[in-house]
Amino acid sequence: MRVVVTGAAGFIGGHVADALAGAGHEVLAVDAPGRSPTPEPARRAWAEVAALPGVTALERDLAVDDLDAVAAADVVVHLAGRPGVRSSWGGGRAAAERDNVLATARLLEACAARPARLRPRVVVASSSSVYGSAGNRPNREDDPLDPGSPYAASKVEVERLAGLAAESGLRTVVLRYFSVYGPRQRPDMAFHRFIEAALDGRPLPVFGDGRKSRSFTHVRDVVAATLAAAAEDLPPGVAVNVGHPEPVAVRAAIKLLTGVLGVRAEIRREAPVAGDAALTWADCGRAARLLGWSATTPLADGLADQIAWHRSLRAQEVAVG
Ligand SMILES: NC(=O)c1ccc[n+]([C@@H]2O[C@H](COP(=O)([O-])OP(=O)(O)OC[C@H]3O[C@@H](n4cnc5c(N)ncnc54)[C@H](O)[C@@H]3O)[C@@H](O)[C@H]2O)c1
Repeated sequence: MRVVVTGAAGFIGGHVADALAGAGHEVLAVDAPGRSPTPEPARRAWAEVAALPGVTALERDLAVDDLDAVAAADVVVHLAGRPGVRSSWGGGRAAAERDNVLATARLLEACAARPARLRPRVVVASSSSVYGSAGNRPNREDDPLDPGSPYAASKVEVERLAGLAAESGLRTVVLRYFSVYGPRQRPDMAFHRFIEAALDGRPLPVFGDGRKSRSFTHVRDVVAATLAAAAEDLPPGVAVNVGHPEPVAVRAAIKLLTGVLGVRAEIRREAPVAGDAALTWADCGRAARLLGWSATTPLADGLADQIAWHRSLRAQEVAVG
């Protein structure tokens, strides 16, 4: 299959491009690393993805550039965007609208403009944040959406666009990812910040009181779900939760993390983030039925994996420096 992966310089996109190329697919990796909130690491990751066997890299800003080449595929896995609840307030709102909504609208338009038999299947990244704080039970895909931040609202709009495109004949599927972690996690995400702080001997910066719970999902599991969605003809426009079935409180995750690291860490409490749900909890029935998928990585194992990655980065820096 010829597969386009947008956002391939990013955390999830890099893993997905790697796995697709490893499975023998022809991969066109697309990104605009300058649009990442951390452009320097994104540029390094971009160079690594571009060097993978089976991957061709194409720099395109989805919000402005011509997208004919991006739409010419059997499958487009659309992971490019501006993630993050916290950074979407204030000045970040415009970036969320540009790189999530406008970019997706243009990409879907380019795909829909292909002759019917050449239109790609399009897998679109959404987020558990679309549910908001929807009660003390697992969220099912047909629950009402209640976005609590500009980021979540941008993803609701992305989903609406994917639904409209499906009604006009494009085979879209929406994956609602839940708090993804693992090697190469974004620097603004909780585990990345906790592990770096612990390795430096600094207090761990925790937003709020650490009681918020998340369906933390290892990127290996996320890649498996994404590849399954890319390979299947699913009901057009369907949304599917991609999350671990057991939510864990941030405090409990910190206990696991410091246990793996073998350190006692102090916590530094920071102001809670507006619009951050108290709980995200994935109902995984639809993913099991449609994709034959469930998350299998236990949090302790996944954290050990991410910690090993942070340590390997530090070892490389020492070797180079
Ligand atoms: N990481 C998570 O826990 C998580 C959870 C829910 C949803 N998601 C969604 O999954 C997708 C990937 O997330 P991630 O964590 O890998 O993010 P990331 O920031 O690591 O990757 C996103 C990539 O998109 C690129 N990009 C941004 N705007 C672009 C544009 N206009 N044109 C081309 N490229 C552009 C960036 O340069 C970056 O490399 C995003 O859509 C995100 O909203 C992620």
